[in-house]
Amino acid sequence: MHLSIIMDGNGRWAKAKGLNRTEGHKKGAQVVKEITTFCANNDKINYLSLYAFSTENWKRPKYEVEFLMKLLDNWLKNELDTYLKNEVKFEVIGDISKFSDKLQKRIEITREKTKNFTKLTQVLALNYGGRDEITRAVKKLCDNKEKISDENINKYLDTAIHNIPDVDLLIRTSGEIRVSNFLLWQIAYAEMFFTKTLWPDFTPQELEKIIEDFEKRERRYGGI
Ligand code: IPE
Ligand code: IPE
Ligand code: MG
Repeated sequence: MHLSIIMDGNGRWAKAKGLNRTEGHKKGAQVVKEITTFCANNDKINYLSLYAFSTENWKRPKYEVEFLMKLLDNWLKNELDTYLKNEVKFEVIGDISKFSDKLQKRIEITREKTKNFTKLTQVLALNYGGRDEITRAVKKLCDNKEKISDENINKYLDTAIHNIPDVDLLIRTSGEIRVSNFLLWQIAYAEMFFTKTLWPDFTPQELEKIIEDFEKRERRYGGI
């Protein structure tokens, strides 16, 4: 199944502890490692997509945006071993052409080195927006003068380009009940779960409980 997570609440976690927001992002990155390792070793989960930076997050103060870019670069450099050890394939959705050449290169290297792994595909959403993704897909469709259809729009989405299926379970942490422009097309029939836990406090144990709850739900897809 495809599990998708809106990792929210890093700033509030840090604030509650009297720390700078950046400390929340650092702790959040550690949680990404734990959750990814858990998913790699769970046979039910084949795809884990994580909302890491939205097309709207550029609105944040310059120092926070710069910190997040640096954190991502360091993460990819330091955690390559984690990907290799757990046989996790790394993939990205979103428009990374806005990132520095150095970061784009780092992303490419990580992709290349992990491309043959099949245990889990971890998808980072970077400079990702659901509307931006659909708009880019429709533009390609028009440029190629192709017929407008559900399948044709879908095939040019970042997810389809990388063979990532629709979302089965969408989780958002931090208590906000909204999707904030994440995977708008692909969540058409996703089951949703909202938890008050802030992302830096999220654990594999809580994820296990959510998956249990998910498995009890009846998915009807409009049928009866
Ligand atoms: C999510 O945490 C991480 C990113 C969006 C990069 P936030 O930074 O949004 O934390 P809150 O929502 O302000 O607590
Ligand atoms: C969504 O969180 C984006 C990511 C988790 C990367 P935000 O914190 O940016 O969303 P809003 O502003 O609360 O909707
Ligand atoms: Mg937030």
